[in-house]
Amino acid sequence: MRSLYFCNHQYTPMFIKKTSAAFIIVLLIVCLQLLIVCNSATSRKNQTTDNQVTLGRYLFFDRRLSVNNTRSCGTCHNPEFAFTDGYKRSLGAYADLHQRNTQPLFNLLHLKYLTSADSSLHFAEQQMINPLYSQHPVEMGMTGNEKSILRKIRDDTLYKTLFQKAFPGQQEAVTIENIVGAISRFVYTIRSFQSPYDAYLNGDSNVLSTEAKRGMQLFFSERLQCSRCHGGFNFSTPSITNLQGDTLFFFNTGLYNVKDSSQYPDYDQGLYQYTKQPFDMGAFRVPTLRNLAFTGPYFHDGSAATLEEVIAVYEHGGRFVAKGIYKGDGRKNINKHPLIAGFSLNSQQRKDLVSFLLHLSDSSVITNPAYANPFKEDETR
Ligand code: HEC
Ligand code: HEC
Repeated sequence: MRSLYFCNHQYTPMFIKKTSAAFIIVLLIVCLQLLIVCNSATSRKNQTTDNQVTLGRYLFFDRRLSVNNTRSCGTCHNPEFAFTDGYKRSLGAYADLHQRNTQPLFNLLHLKYLTSADSSLHFAEQQMINPLYSQHPVEMGMTGNEKSILRKIRDDTLYKTLFQKAFPGQQEAVTIENIVGAISRFVYTIRSFQSPYDAYLNGDSNVLSTEAKRGMQLFFSERLQCSRCHGGFNFSTPSITNLQGDTLFFFNTGLYNVKDSSQYPDYDQGLYQYTKQPFDMGAFRVPTLRNLAFTGPYFHDGSAATLEEVIAVYEHGGRFVAKGIYKGDGRKNINKHPLIAGFSLNSQQRKDLVSFLLHLSDSSVITNPAYANPFKEDETR
């Protein structure tokens, strides 16, 4: 009995050991195969995404996307100027003046609202419809010209492979939807977090000059309150809420007071244009302060040529426009936010503040080859 017991005892575990070992091996093989399948699916997906970014970069810089081959996204959003154009207000395909100063394109994922004064735009895919289709002014002129514009893209052999790789398996991949999708994939890859200030935050205390360090103190001070509006690591997220606790993003900073009636110039009245709420008159989105070294002139209408001019507005608690059709005392605009109350700085402090602001600029965004125009010659030839 004993031996039998032992025998049995020994026999059963052995059997179990063998089968479970085999079972584990089979299980491992299955897992491994699953892993390979999953991995290759993920890497295929990643590859497709990469291909869409590549395609998007070509399309972003392709002037054939405009009705008369004069404008690409990159014409107004030029990498050399951190994806702005250096104009006060940008120029559309027929050289008509746009309502606004071009906004830079980087860290777009960190912006809750896109453009300066439209609380309905959250994603590049939505926003892009404006430049493509707008008619006041025509920016790219897609309206009524989709067919001929798509034909220009379809006819270029370069795009045959690019679209095939980016949208595999689609019979007709050259569609507006895919164009918009690919361009937005590209613009979302543009990131800028390598300024001297970022290096400073990462522990390199020597990258900020003494001036810039003093400017930083001023910027974050109770007295100046800059960071209350220009907050967060993108300097575009305010810490100001309404009574319901929602963060506010749009403010009137007292730039105008046309005819002393608290109006902004009628061609651009900020968020009011969209909401028609009187208190939104002259309210604009808080812009990022990254890359100011490349993005002048400043403000929604490019009305400040230099950072010194911008700071003067804050010092005075608004802007006094002495002459011209928009004259009026912006300091007394009733919609101006109470934080724009004014303060005084001596000339050294002004320099310090400018120096700090300039240390938020990241030259990698203008030199990164991944963001550069891929066309080596005239793409419209
Ligand atoms: C004619 C010049 C022009 C062209 C062409 C143009 N844009 Fe713009 N873009 C602007 C201006 C001006 C603004 C700011 C609009 C505003 O604040 O209301 C802007 C804003 C944007 C924004 C919002 C940025 C932010 O900070 O909120 C995105 C995204 C954008 N453009 C992408 C594109 C893409 C993609 C294309 C090509 C399909 C394009 N733009 C073509 C002038 C242009
Ligand atoms: C009440 C919120 C608020 C405060 C406080 C504030 N800003 Fe602004 N800032 C804004 C808004 C809104 C704009 C856009 C105004 C416009 O274009 O009409 C802006 C624009 C700017 C610009 C122009 C950026 C560009 O790309 O055009 C700079 C620079 C700037 N602010 C720096 C500062 C500094 C420095 C301080 C502190 C002295 C400060 N801001 C305080 C809300 C604020």
